[in-house]
Amino acid sequence: MKTFDLSELPFPVAHRLLLGGIAPRPIAFVSTIDNSGNVNLAPFSFFNAFGANPPIVCFSPAYSGKTGAAKDTLLNILETKECTISIVSYDMVHQMSLASAPYERGVDEFIKSGFTTLPSLKVKAPGVAESPFVMEAKLLQHIDFDHKPGSANMLICEVLMIHIREDVINDNGQIDPRAMDQVARMGGQWYSRAAQGLFELSQPSTVKHGFDSIPAEIRTSPYLTGNDLAKLLDVEEIPTIPITSISKETRENRHLRAKELIEHNDIESAWNILLS
Ligand SMILES: Cc1cc2nc3c(=O)[nH]c(=O)nc-3n(C[C@H](O)[C@H](O)[C@H](O)COP(=O)(O)O)c2cc1C
Repeated sequence: MKTFDLSELPFPVAHRLLLGGIAPRPIAFVSTIDNSGNVNLAPFSFFNAFGANPPIVCFSPAYSGKTGAAKDTLLNILETKECTISIVSYDMVHQMSLASAPYERGVDEFIKSGFTTLPSLKVKAPGVAESPFVMEAKLLQHIDFDHKPGSANMLICEVLMIHIREDVINDNGQIDPRAMDQVARMGGQWYSRAAQGLFELSQPSTVKHGFDSIPAEIRTSPYLTGNDLAKLLDVEEIPTIPITSISKETRENRHLRAKELIEHNDIESAWNILLS
């Protein structure tokens, strides 16, 4: 491990490391409006949801790393205490990137980047009509950490309304990640297209035991990974088959055969082989 003490790092280096490590980050495409009615639009990947009751999201327009200036989004939201947040899908990325250019205050990035406004119901700022998922939100709290270049401004917002494009909602009323086709921000210039890396993982709702319940002979196997062992725990009870006869198979063979069964989610058979 290479270890970094953030108190000794120049902030641009810390910024680069944090962004590379904490990824992928969802992108809040934030529209705000100032007291004179000027509309603004900009993307922010210091963003996430933090609870549903009340529905809380948070994003951070940091002070400019170069000039230390406050971003238009921050100034607007502090004036009017409201915004919309639109989720960015793959077919929006190039226009979204264009909207992140440092246009002067008062410039409408909907016009600059060619996006269409979606009228809001409870706030004045419009959403992005091309987005599959648009939230209207009000500012609850602003945490201003410092006034240095790169300092965060955490904007904690309550979501008031959500507008979801109908084709992304499946027959069960759930949001289909393939149809959403969200993009996320990585470190450097990298982005990730979430729908291309999807896999399902069942919730360990019935699991009552942990690694410490796995017999040492299996837990210390050089053939089974941490993921393999975690999947083995996806059983109501850990089988306690008495070892009546020593298997003629070597440990390597048994563990490799079990590994294959684990890969195919046949956990019961995997245990039978491991304990034979
Ligand atoms: C994908 C993406 C994510 C971004 N995330 C952030 C962020 O989380 N915080 C931030 O201060 N700037 C972020 N930026 C840069 C801002 O979008 C940029 O500074 C923009 O000009 C701010 O616009 P405004 O002054 O109209 O608010 C991001 C840019 C892109 C392209």
